[in-house]
Amino acid sequence: MDKKKILADYNHKISRINELNKSYYQLNKTIVPDFEFDQLKKEILELENQYDFLDHKNSPSKTVGYKPSRNFEKIKHKVPMLSLSNAFSKEDLENFYKKIQNYLELDSSQIIDISAEPKIDGISASLIYKNRQFVTGLSRGDGKEGEDITENLKTIIDIPKNIKDPTFPDEIDIRGEVFIQNNDFKNLSDKFSNPRNAASGSLRQKDSTETKKIPLKFIAYTFGYEKGLKVNSQEEFLDSLKKWGFKTNHLNKTFNNITDLLKNYKHIEEKRNELTFDIDGIVYKVNDFKLQKRLGYVANSPRWAIAHKFSAFKGVSNILDIEIQIGRTGALTPVAKIKPINIGGVIVSNATLHNEDEIIRKDIRVNDTVLVERAGDVIPHIISVDLKKRPGNSKKFVFPKKCPSCGSITIKEFNKTTKKTDAVRRCSSEGYECEKVSIEKIKHFVSKEAFNIDGLGKKIVEKFWQLNLIRYPYDIFKLDYKKIENLDGWGKQSMNNLKYSIDQKKNISFERFIYSLGIRHIGFEGAKLIAKNLKKSKNFLTLLNKKKIEELKNLDGIGETQIKSIKDFFANYTNSQIVKSLFNLIYIEDFNSIDENGVLKGQTFLLTGKLEKMSRAEAKALIEKNSGNVVSNVSKKLDYLIVGEKPTKRKIESAKEFKVKIINQSEWLKMLNLTG
Ligand code: IVH
Repeated sequence: MDKKKILADYNHKISRINELNKSYYQLNKTIVPDFEFDQLKKEILELENQYDFLDHKNSPSKTVGYKPSRNFEKIKHKVPMLSLSNAFSKEDLENFYKKIQNYLELDSSQIIDISAEPKIDGISASLIYKNRQFVTGLSRGDGKEGEDITENLKTIIDIPKNIKDPTFPDEIDIRGEVFIQNNDFKNLSDKFSNPRNAASGSLRQKDSTETKKIPLKFIAYTFGYEKGLKVNSQEEFLDSLKKWGFKTNHLNKTFNNITDLLKNYKHIEEKRNELTFDIDGIVYKVNDFKLQKRLGYVANSPRWAIAHKFSAFKGVSNILDIEIQIGRTGALTPVAKIKPINIGGVIVSNATLHNEDEIIRKDIRVNDTVLVERAGDVIPHIISVDLKKRPGNSKKFVFPKKCPSCGSITIKEFNKTTKKTDAVRRCSSEGYECEKVSIEKIKHFVSKEAFNIDGLGKKIVEKFWQLNLIRYPYDIFKLDYKKIENLDGWGKQSMNNLKYSIDQKKNISFERFIYSLGIRHIGFEGAKLIAKNLKKSKNFLTLLNKKKIEELKNLDGIGETQIKSIKDFFANYTNSQIVKSLFNLIYIEDFNSIDENGVLKGQTFLLTGKLEKMSRAEAKALIEKNSGNVVSNVSKKLDYLIVGEKPTKRKIESAKEFKVKIINQSEWLKMLNLTG
């Protein structure tokens, strides 16, 4: 890589991490999960290690957190509030230990005591005591200056306001973590995404009477400046804190070798879900204060301490129940309802169990203790069961042999191609005969890639089903709007909005129409192939004749499975009635073949932000219809970035770096000779 590229990449990472910090520290908003943040920080530090010319003033190696918000008065920390470097593996921990030995010129036989303290995932605070009185309380801020949040901190019961013990120093800045217990977070989960955000938000209330309503807790673990502190080690300091009336973590322990540190790490990671608060790792500190002093600091973290983070993707929890969800194809999907746990900043309370075979293979049961994994945007799943923790009276889970919704028998189909029985068990009813299947089919009918009806979300579909307003897709175009207007929570305005969005979708492209019917094995691409082949939308009705369906076999991408599925679909009376009715109620456009020589030929586009009166899928289709290409990442090959409302800033910044043309929706529509 050349220097320019490295610099651009580095600067891009720095601006991203500052954007994340700003959002987290000033706006109390977590944009990405913690592990993504840690990963980004790690990448920046690695780049700086590798290339001397990288030295940004806003690098996380130079700064901590973000400038304090303007809502509170700023006060300088007498001793800066630093951060810790992270260890993610056994090797990282061994390195930390070795570096200390080298620095102190100790040989490997000399023992170094290490204090191991669970790292509470909260908000750090500094409490200044003068003459045994709590006088000022500060947030971390940017590490150099914090916000004066004294009044809010005073509302916390765990923070002693005056201390009687004679051994308490004349002046001291006690530091620790403010947090919310998981069961208290339950009542706040509609306002905040995780307990840490809730703690941060509550601490930054302008009105301390609001803060008082939130059951914040405080655990102390270190100090900043002091006058008259007479302790020699972290262990002694933690004991003194208890004596003075502070809460400390009951899992703090001191060890003198790596093997025990790792055992403790594993033990606490397993116990993590039993704790009443979130922890995201273990903090290790050299116990002896004299050694700490000799070791000193690198950049903005101490050489004598490190945070050993837990895997950001996994967590241990308990299965409270196993529910069976029914999909639009009748597939029965078991879902484990688990005791909510925080995995990488996201609260997880459901984990997919995939299918019956998976439950049998892993012998997953209600009340089991399980290891759950959540990676990226994929639905969390269960990795393994801790058999040692299985209760004595536990019973094997019996998969329902009858559909829980309609009572039809459930079946596992035989797949002719793989010559194997399907792992998935399905409801054997004919689609619309099963309530749950019907509701799911209607949800699919109005979904983004299908009819894309704004205002007919999943919850509304369910409600309208219960009220008998929608039972089949055609009901959507014959709604009783008077009745809707009079429903609880509705009114003229919302009714009119719904009517408007439905009326707008009475014109639909042929391929979207086919896709929306939810014929098994016919996805969007298959629907496109069929539309392209039939050309005129009215030809779709010819498929009511079985022989015509056979003719589709010649299409590349339509095989035996698809043909059988289309036949089954039309053989069902309800389905054929739905198709016929829809043809009478709406206008289905003929297939519009893509112009291979359209005005956007050879140009690539990327969309960011919300467009006016147009979904992402529609905009994409419009670009493709005019021979343009839509991509999902900014690169130097990109020609245009189309920017809508609330765009992703990162995309705009990268586009500027790569000198990509940035245009708005109307400029783009002009390129297509359309006005927006
Ligand atoms: S010591 C110089 N001890 O982790 C290091 N920090 O990135 C001072 N934390 O800002 C921190 N538990 O918010 C320390 N037992 C503990 C901790 C702890 C949680 C947090 C704290 C700090 C961050 C370090």
